[in-house]
Amino acid sequence: MQVVLDYLKRNQARFVAELCEFLRFPSVSAQPQHKQDLRACADWLANHCRQIGLDAKVCPTDGHPIVVAKTPLAVTKRSEGGKPHYMVYGHYDVQPPEPLDLWKSPPFEPRIAGQSLFARGSTDNKGQHFAHLKAVEAYLKTGSPLPCDLTFVIEGEEEVGSANLAKFLKLHRRELACDAVVVSDTGMPDADHPALTYALRGIIAFEITVRGPSRDLHSGIFGGAVDNPAMALSQLLGKLRDKNGRVAIPGFYNDVAPLTAYERREFSRLPTNDAELRKLIGVPKLFGERGFTPMEQRSARPTFEINGLTSGYQGEGSKTIVPAWARAKITCRLVPNQNPARIRKVVCDYIRKICPPSVRLEIEAGHGAEAYLVSPKSAQAQAALRALRQAFQREPVLLREGGSIPIVNDFKKVLGVDTLLLGLGLPEDNAHSPNEKFDLDCFENGQRMSALLWRELSRA
Ligand code: BES
Ligand code: MN
Repeated sequence: MQVVLDYLKRNQARFVAELCEFLRFPSVSAQPQHKQDLRACADWLANHCRQIGLDAKVCPTDGHPIVVAKTPLAVTKRSEGGKPHYMVYGHYDVQPPEPLDLWKSPPFEPRIAGQSLFARGSTDNKGQHFAHLKAVEAYLKTGSPLPCDLTFVIEGEEEVGSANLAKFLKLHRRELACDAVVVSDTGMPDADHPALTYALRGIIAFEITVRGPSRDLHSGIFGGAVDNPAMALSQLLGKLRDKNGRVAIPGFYNDVAPLTAYERREFSRLPTNDAELRKLIGVPKLFGERGFTPMEQRSARPTFEINGLTSGYQGEGSKTIVPAWARAKITCRLVPNQNPARIRKVVCDYIRKICPPSVRLEIEAGHGAEAYLVSPKSAQAQAALRALRQAFQREPVLLREGGSIPIVNDFKKVLGVDTLLLGLGLPEDNAHSPNEKFDLDCFENGQRMSALLWRELSRA
C-alpha cells in the first residue's frame, strides 16, 4: 500500500495538469449546441483510462455517450473468480455555466489560485471521479495487486436526469453486476469533516407555460382588458407556498417520512452554523419551513423551487407590452416515501385547478427520481468510514444531503446493490454557481481514500 500512496504523492502536479485538460471540454449536457463537446470529452476520458492501464470503451446512447473502463483481467485475474467487484460511478457532463459575466475567469479555462482549481465541472463532478481514476492508476503503474475488480461507469447525462444510463444498466446488468457502487459526487460539511452520505433527496422537474394574447400587445391600447400572463403566472406560483415556508399543495406532504428523534439529534451534532451559512450564500436572512433547522430543511424536507422564470421583454430600457406568454422552470425535491409520479400528479392537478380561465396552461414534464436512503451501519459503510478516517486523518461524519443523483435508485433496483456516497465537495465549492472550484487538498485526500477503500471494502 505504501508504494501506492507514495506514487500518488509524487504525481500530484501531473494529476492537476491532467484534470485541467479534462475541464477544458464544455460538456454541458442540457445545451444541444454542446453535443460534439460531450462526445470529444468522452473520447478524451476513454483515452485517458487506456493510458493509465484500464480497458475502456465509449458506449453510444440515444443521448450523450457513456464511458466504461475496467481493470484488465491480467491484473485482477477476474476469471479465477472470488474477487469482489466494485463499480465507480461519476459524470463528465456539467451544468450550464451562465451567467458568464459573473465568472472571474472563463468557466472552461481552468485557473488555479492557492489550493483552489476554478472551472465548471471541477467539483461537480470531473475532479471527484478523477480522484478515483488516479488511485487506480497508482495501483496499475506500481504493479500493486488490486484486491478487487473495478469498473468505472462515467456518464454524460447526470445533470439532465440519467434517462439513458438507466436503460444501459438494464441492458448490461450481467456485465455490471457488482458488490457495491462507489460515488464521489456529494459533499462534506467542511474540510475537517470527511463524510459518508447515507441519504439523498429525489426530484421531479417540469415547466409551466401560461399563454395569453396571440402576440405581445401594446399595453396602453389593450392593457386593462386582457390578463397579463406574467402576472397570472406570478399569482399562481405565489399560491404554492405559504408564509411558514410550507408547500401549499394539498397532499404534497402525505407520504413524507418524518424525521426520527435519533436523526434530529445526529443533525444537531454536525459542524454547521446558521450565521456562517447565511453569509456563505449571501442572503439577508435564512428562510425555510417552520419547525425545522436549516440542515433539516436542506436535506430531509421536500421543497418546491422555481429554477427559472421568463416572460416579456428582457433587453435594455423599457418596452410597453402585455407579453404573450410566461414560463417557469420548476423542480421539487422529494424525500423518502414520496413517489415521484404521485407527487407530479398532485402538483399538476392543483396547478390546473387554480389556473385562471383568462390564460391557457401547458405543463411539460421533465425528469424524475426517488429519494435514496441506505443504512450507514452496514459492513460496507463501516469499511468506507475506515478509508475516510485514514485518508483524511479526521473522524468522518454521517450525512443526509439534499442534492439528487437519480441513478443510485436504479443501482439498487437493477443491480441489487447499495451505493456508498463518499463526497469530496465543500459547501463553498459553488457547484451549479459561477466560479465553481475544487479544493486540491480534497482532490489528494480523495485519491488516498480511494486507494485505501479497495483494501477496506474487500476485507469487509
Ligand atoms: N453532485 C450533485 C448531487 C449532489 C450535490 C448530491 C450535493 C448531494 C450534495 C449532482 O451532480 C447534481 O447536481 N444532480 C442534480 C440532479 C438533477 C439534475 C436530476 C441535482 O441534484 O440537481
Ligand atoms: Mn450537479
